[in-house]
Amino acid sequence: MCRKAPAFRHLADKSFEILRLLSIPCVKARAISYMRQTIASRTADRVALGRAAHQIFDEPKVFEDPLALRIVGAEASAVLRAGADEAQEPAKRSRRAFFAARGRYAEDELAASVPRGVRQCVILGAGLDTFAYRNPFSGIGLRVFEVDHPATQAWKRERLQRGGIAIPSGLSFVPVDFEEQSLPAELSRGGFDASQPGFFSWLGVTPYLTRTAFDTTIGFIAGLPGNSEVVFDFLVERQFLTPGELAALRRLESRLELAGEPFKLFFEPAKLEQDLRRSGFESIERLGAAELNRRYFANRADALRILSGHGNLMSARVNLT
Ligand SMILES: C[S@@+](CC[C@H](N)C(=O)[O-])C[C@H]1O[C@@H](n2cnc3c(N)ncnc32)[C@H](O)[C@@H]1O
Repeated sequence: MCRKAPAFRHLADKSFEILRLLSIPCVKARAISYMRQTIASRTADRVALGRAAHQIFDEPKVFEDPLALRIVGAEASAVLRAGADEAQEPAKRSRRAFFAARGRYAEDELAASVPRGVRQCVILGAGLDTFAYRNPFSGIGLRVFEVDHPATQAWKRERLQRGGIAIPSGLSFVPVDFEEQSLPAELSRGGFDASQPGFFSWLGVTPYLTRTAFDTTIGFIAGLPGNSEVVFDFLVERQFLTPGELAALRRLESRLELAGEPFKLFFEPAKLEQDLRRSGFESIERLGAAELNRRYFANRADALRILSGHGNLMSARVNLT
C-alpha cells in the first residue's frame, strides 16, 4: 500500500491535513518524508490542533486563544468538531490539558515580566503560536520576535494569510535552525536588542533538540540583562517516571517517530535546575503534572487534567545584579 504514496505528491499541499486527520499512517509517513524539505514541523500542527480542540471542547478554558481555530483553518476545525467522541479519549484530553497549561503559564509569566520593564518577547520554535497576533501589550511597546525553523515559519505565514490574520507592526519573523545557525546573530538582525531584557517562550521544542543546541540557547538567555526570563517545557528522563508515565511516553514516542520528529533530549529535573543556576538564572520554578493540575485544573466538572508527568514546565529568570 505504501508504494501508492507518491500518487499523493501532487495532492499533498492541499490535502495533507485531511490525510493526517484521517490517520492513514503509511500515506502520512510518506507524505511527511517528501514534504520535509519544504514543509513545516508536523508536531507544530498537532499542538495547534490540540489548542483548537481545547477551545471547542473544554469549559472553562485554561488557555483562551481566540485565534486558535482560525490558524488551523476551517477544514481542520470542521474535522475537529466532527470528532467530539474521539476528543474525549483520556490520552487526548490529557495532551491538550498539557498544551493549554503550558501556554497559559508562559503567557502569565510574560504578563508578570512586563511590569518589570520587559518589552521584548521572543517565541522560540513558535509553530502556530498566536500570541503575537493578540498581543495585549502592543500599546505599551511589547515587541514580539517569532523564531522558528525556516520551513515551519514559511508554512505559518501561509496559514496566517489563509486565515486572514494580520501581521502586526510590532512582530518580527526570525528564521533560525537552532542546530545550524546563531540565535544571537539572527535575533540581532531581526531587531532584538541584547542590551535590554527579553522574555523567551520555548514551548514544545527542547525534546527535539540536541543538548548542544539547548545549552547554547540557554547560555545566550542567561547572558542577557537582569529580568530576562525563559519558560520552557522538557521531558523527564525515563528513570524518574512511573510505569504508567513510561507507557504514555512510549505511545507518544512511537507516533512522533512515525512523523519523523523523534524525541532526542531528556533531563534529570534536579540536575537541570542546578545547571540553570550555574548558568546565571536565579528565580527558578519547576512544575510537574501534580502542580499544574492543582494550579489549573482543580474542581472542574469535566475533570480535565494532565494524566502523565513525563513533561514538566520550567521558568528561570536572570538576576538583576
Ligand atoms: C511541537 S512544535 C511546538 C510549536 C509551538 N511552540 C507550540 O507550542 O505550538 C516544535 C517547534 O520546534 C521547532 N523546531 C524544532 N527543531 C528546530 C530547530 N532545530 N530549529 C528551529 N526550530 C525548531 C519546529 O519548527 C516547531 O515549530
